[in-house]
Amino acid sequence: MTKIDPIVKAEHTTIAEQIRHHDRLYYQQDAPEIDDSAYDRLRQRLIEIEARFPALADAASPSQNIGAAPAAGFNKIRHGVPMLSLGNCFTDQDVTDFLTKIQRFLSIDNDVALMAELKIDGLSCSLCYENNLLVQAATRGDGQEGEDVTANIRTIADIPAQLNGSAPAMVEIRGEIFMNRDDFIALNQNRAEKNENLFANPRNAAAGSLRQLDPTITASRPLKFFAYGWGAMDGDDPYGPTQQTARQKLKDWGFILNEPARLCQTGADLMAFYQEINHLRAALEFDIDGVVYKVNDRGLQDRLGFVSRAPRWAIAHKFAAEQAETFLEDIIIQVGRTGALTPVAILTPINVGGVMVSRATLHNQDEIARKDIHIGDRVIVQRAGDVIPQIVSATRTEQSRPFAFPTHCPECDSIALREADEAVTRCTGGLICPAQAVERLKHFVSRNAFDIEGLGEKIIVEFWNDHLVCAPADFFTLEQRDHGQLAKRPGWGAQSARNLFDAIEKRRTISLDRFLYALGIRQIGQTTAKILARNYGQLEIMRHALANATPDSESWSDLTAIEGIGATIATDLVGFFAEKQNQIVLENLLKHIKVNDFNEVVDHSSPVAGKTIVFTGTMEKMSRIEAKARAEAMGAKVAGSVSAKTDYVVAGLEAGSKLKKARDLGVTILDEDQWIDLIRA
Ligand code: IVH
Repeated sequence: MTKIDPIVKAEHTTIAEQIRHHDRLYYQQDAPEIDDSAYDRLRQRLIEIEARFPALADAASPSQNIGAAPAAGFNKIRHGVPMLSLGNCFTDQDVTDFLTKIQRFLSIDNDVALMAELKIDGLSCSLCYENNLLVQAATRGDGQEGEDVTANIRTIADIPAQLNGSAPAMVEIRGEIFMNRDDFIALNQNRAEKNENLFANPRNAAAGSLRQLDPTITASRPLKFFAYGWGAMDGDDPYGPTQQTARQKLKDWGFILNEPARLCQTGADLMAFYQEINHLRAALEFDIDGVVYKVNDRGLQDRLGFVSRAPRWAIAHKFAAEQAETFLEDIIIQVGRTGALTPVAILTPINVGGVMVSRATLHNQDEIARKDIHIGDRVIVQRAGDVIPQIVSATRTEQSRPFAFPTHCPECDSIALREADEAVTRCTGGLICPAQAVERLKHFVSRNAFDIEGLGEKIIVEFWNDHLVCAPADFFTLEQRDHGQLAKRPGWGAQSARNLFDAIEKRRTISLDRFLYALGIRQIGQTTAKILARNYGQLEIMRHALANATPDSESWSDLTAIEGIGATIATDLVGFFAEKQNQIVLENLLKHIKVNDFNEVVDHSSPVAGKTIVFTGTMEKMSRIEAKARAEAMGAKVAGSVSAKTDYVVAGLEAGSKLKKARDLGVTILDEDQWIDLIRA
């Protein structure tokens, strides 16, 4: 058992208390005292401490609803009560038929009250709480059995790790996991930059994010949860007589519910709710694909029961697909931070399901070819679940003419190149390209980078156009160069200028991982930045190593030996630091800011602290992901290839060339049992 340093323990207790305090203010009193990023930093620190001292991550820790030990795979979980589906209806007549059937079944003439709710377009999930603590979570699966996603679910902040107030000894809570549209767009943008496959819509993004074997990936995705129902329970029924009282109980326990919801007395009330929500739909932060009507009286629900796999007492009233036909006037090219050229369709504005649409993304050159789109075509535009409209199909008109994908950047006229195996065409202009420069500045100040409040896109473009900020360092000299000018700009005043200068001032110190991410180097997202920061520790050490990382050099093999850093990332990274212009930008920036060394809580007492470990072959008692996470949590570095600097090679079954190399170099080799003994020592 690892000894916990009392100073670390005290820090952990203080942070855990602070987080609980802010959770209460945020979730129960709607009155947060700190902004989201300050809160995120608290949570981040807590997770770092617990990664080193897992014993601190007990059920009482607030970390238990964010970040958790990685799952080795998805086990099957049998639901206490099957997770059923809903019948669908589309027209007013269908709704009337549904109500008539209920009356006939119950042999009554009077109207039955129904609760009308939003039908969130995500994926359903069942959460099991024992003695108020979240103990297990499962996907719907086939309705009888789902996949155990407990570790992933614990990373979702909306899901309480502990229920407030009294609850049965065991309860299953059901609800929908989903992703807000803005978060989905940001996630896809990030993936596009890294040349990763894009998610088709927020639902797919939520499903893909939840079903990750590595919960740290889920933790990095902004998933949300609405509770809408329940399954099995042990002990007295806590939900009261109606759907409405049950919703209140879920709320009291700490869940977020799907709002707005309305108790409707008649069919006409249901239709009115449906129409209102259909209009509101576009303004919601998340996708819905209809509304759900549920008989309010739970006694009546029991009498109505189920038919095949759906309740007789509930139905989904779906919205029509949002499509419209319009004219494709032009295709323009947008240039992103890393120079990616994205074609965008300019449409004759058209109302699609209550939203005026005048642009649609075309993704890349292949997408235009695949959908056979020409400028001047009539096109069907769709907003089905997606906030970014898409072109579904195109038909030729007399004005149709093919679109020639540009060979040069429309912003700076540099050559645009499409590399082998890449779908993306990129501007080669780098620093001379104004579009890339503005995008880079936006990225530099963004939330996960320097996190400078008050510097939105519009302001950055204005500052750039007026030559106030041309490079990152310029943010930090803005006040000194200002002489009262900012306050006089249209839309600004003394107070807003002061606020901006203060916000910049607060960010003169930054951690190494955030700094690396902020530089906007191709393929260096938050995770990779953290891996690099952990491995090099200090900016100067890293810069020195990369400057000397010519192919075949030791620095190069050290870099590519880091787990998660392949040759293409290494090439981009070394290329970035080798570029003269980038060196100047960096030098200027470093005159104004301080980059802190990577500050992880290192468990120096662990037997593998500071050691470099390579895992190879198939392990039987824990997955490679878990082994790696454990090793890192105990202060080890995990490398992808064996070198003279490797301390241990842990060889599972059928280990091949890495094992041979370890033998050749005389590196200590451990089998799986020896590895487990070592970390349990
Ligand atoms: S109630 C026994 N309420 O829709 C009935 N479901 O098409 C359980 N869904 O599997 C479902 N929002 O994933 C219910 N407010 C809501 C919902 C909702 C979304 C999903 C749920 C369900 C699917 C059925």
